[in-house]
Amino acid sequence: MVIVCESKTGFTMKYANMLSQKTGLKVFTTREPDKVWSDEEVIFLGWMKAGMIQGLRKLKKHKVIAVCATGIGLKAEPDNETAMKL
Ligand SMILES: Cc1cc2nc3c(=O)[nH]c(=O)nc-3n(C[C@H](O)[C@H](O)[C@H](O)COP(=O)(O)O)c2cc1C
Repeated sequence: MVIVCESKTGFTMKYANMLSQKTGLKVFTTREPDKVWSDEEVIFLGWMKAGMIQGLRKLKKHKVIAVCATGIGLKAEPDNETAMKL
């Protein structure tokens, strides 16, 4: 299992690195998808932009088992399913 992260200004990457330190899992960015085996379980961290989780689409062919998004909203808008739409 690995962590894959998409971050623009660095906050999400900070959280990914904190999770990595706690779990011992390696962190990759969405710029290096080839470094992650397609059958490897992925915990994805991305940032919210206009109600959508950025970067998740880049992992369409990967085995994403958990998704976490950072943002300034109190909840994922408009809803979790739409925010995670690939
Ligand atoms: C253009 C733009 C659009 C954003 N849209 C949303 C949004 O729809 N919902 C939300 O909760 N946060 C939104 N945010 C806030 C970012 O998701 C938040 O600052 C995030 O932590 C940035 O992560 P990063 O530092 O890893 O790039 C937006 C930020 C920007 C710059």
